[in-house]
Amino acid sequence: MKTTGNTIFISGGSAGIGLAIAKKLSDAGNKIIINGRNKERLEKAQTELKDAIAIQGDLSIESDRIRIAEELKTNYPDVNIIVNNAGSAFAYLLSETAGAHEKAMIEMNTNYFAIIHFTELMLSHLLDREAAAVVNVSSIAVYGSHKLLPTYGASKAALHSYTTALRKTYEEQQNLQVYEVYPPLVNTDFSAEIGGAAGIAPSEVADELIIGLEGNLFDIPVGETKVYANAIGEAMSKLAQA
Ligand SMILES: NC(=O)c1ccc[n+]([C@@H]2O[C@H](COP(=O)([O-])OP(=O)(O)OC[C@H]3O[C@@H](n4cnc5c(N)ncnc54)[C@H](OP(=O)(O)O)[C@@H]3O)[C@@H](O)[C@H]2O)c1
Repeated sequence: MKTTGNTIFISGGSAGIGLAIAKKLSDAGNKIIINGRNKERLEKAQTELKDAIAIQGDLSIESDRIRIAEELKTNYPDVNIIVNNAGSAFAYLLSETAGAHEKAMIEMNTNYFAIIHFTELMLSHLLDREAAAVVNVSSIAVYGSHKLLPTYGASKAALHSYTTALRKTYEEQQNLQVYEVYPPLVNTDFSAEIGGAAGIAPSEVADELIIGLEGNLFDIPVGETKVYANAIGEAMSKLAQA
């Protein structure tokens, strides 16, 4: 799809990967609307972007999702791309920390249920646009579990499953495309507790996303994730030939 002239909402666009995506897409000539919970961080990020709009809110809370979706549809009806990037993860060891159940519920809520709900709230609006897209930010964790993130991977695997189903549902509909970008370890606040300093720069994820959007590459593995995606691709093609 074209990567200029769009109006793009980016959840969690005030830091890390979301802010890197916001900067690249803003530089490419798109109108950007960023979101985050912390007002000061959001306003600071807004100053780093050209003519960006900021909508504060917590997408893990149902009433905030409804308010933000209404504000987008009413005040920024040109919005034609949503990037579901805001995510939640707990770094802990199952052997040392209690409360895995509560942590898993929070991760599932933010990374899966909230995205399904927000997308549903925006879907008919997106389908009315000439060209629209949903971009979900999942993770290398879709492909395997890390002992320091014992309950996070399942939430991203669930998001992957939903994203694939959404894409298949609308594949005949020429004006709605569904993308999934799979970052590996990225150097952000989010990953600090699991050695994120050794990860790639958030701007690399943004660069790969833009290449994927331009090439209509709906699954966009980034960096190390490509190793897993390629291995699965090869296995699938062998199965198809068998
Ligand atoms: N970093 C990695 O290694 C890595 C790897 C694979 C996938 N990912 C995925 O990439 C996405 C972004 O991660 P990141 O590393 O860029 O994180 P980050 O640097 O911590 O940034 C997260 C952004 O999301 C916002 N946010 C968090 N929870 C939110 C909520 N409930 N509602 C609205 N905004 C919220 C944050 O602002 P506020 O705190 O002010 O709300 C911030 O703008 C996540 O979905 C994560 O799972 C990250």
